[in-house]
Amino acid sequence: MIRKGIILAGGKGTRMSPLTKAVNKQLLPIYDKPLIFYPLSILMLSKIKDVLIIVNKGQLNQYKKILPDGNNLGIKITYLEQSKPRGLPDAFIIGEKFIGKENVAMILGDNFFYGQNLSSLLLNNTKLNKGAKVVLHKVLKPELFGVAKINNHHKITKIKEKPKKFFSDLAITGLYFFDNKVVKYAKKLKPSKRGELEIVDLLNFYKSKNQLKADLIGRGGAWLDTGSMDDFYKTTSFVSAIENRQGLKIACLEEIAFNNKWINKKHLKQSIKFYGNCDYSKYLAKLI
Ligand code: DAU
Repeated sequence: MIRKGIILAGGKGTRMSPLTKAVNKQLLPIYDKPLIFYPLSILMLSKIKDVLIIVNKGQLNQYKKILPDGNNLGIKITYLEQSKPRGLPDAFIIGEKFIGKENVAMILGDNFFYGQNLSSLLLNNTKLNKGAKVVLHKVLKPELFGVAKINNHHKITKIKEKPKKFFSDLAITGLYFFDNKVVKYAKKLKPSKRGELEIVDLLNFYKSKNQLKADLIGRGGAWLDTGSMDDFYKTTSFVSAIENRQGLKIACLEEIAFNNKWINKKHLKQSIKFYGNCDYSKYLAKLI
């Protein structure tokens, strides 16, 4: 069972400079809310209430202004800083104390997921007791991502980070589920040629022990990367199209918390006061 989750929200953000010179990428807007709301909504939809957000050194105050401690959402948010981008598995070294003896989910701060069966996929994966699980999605340009090949039984037969030579079009999304051994394995990793600890090396530990499983998001689900400027605007357009068509918000954190019965109407009123007079507040008012 997984009850703890990490959002890795640091990184250099160099691909989006100068936008990211003063503000961290995960605080920039995807349509009507900061990017960080979207990965946090995924953890909350997974019924995870204990969340660690790892941010760049010096950027903690920026985050605390928008997501102070989780009280307004009925969750607990802890912050830790990463001194420099040492790679994704560094999250488990930084987060060792937070993880303690439990299993843990991790989502990258710049990942966006949306789709009909997403909640059940998430809840199913938090049942993990042993091993690790990744979530795969078909993409046109696998060379831009971590890539996995699977057999007919959804068993992973090969994984590689940004492969130059094609072997599969299934990208490994930035959402991972691990048992407690992840801390021990992360500590064993050595930096790669580009000087980072690599998530595929960590996953390969599990694979070599026959403990790496995969879940697939089908074509009805969306996984969008917000790595580049262009992707950022495409994701914004996607959210705007859906929200304006349905009148329902994607990643409204208070709505998820309210539906999960983690907060009540009093909390919603406090959030409305906190955000002030804006469309997001009007949406919360409708929930009351
Ligand atoms: O988005 C999915 C992809 O994410 C996976 O398919 C790849 O296997 C995985 O390596 C990763 O690739 P990226 O090239 O997108 O990783 P990037 O360095 O851009 O970092 C992703 C997020 O994690 C970004 O929001 C910044 C944050 N980050 C990254 C590193 C390396 C940190 O907070 N600290 C870090 O040390």
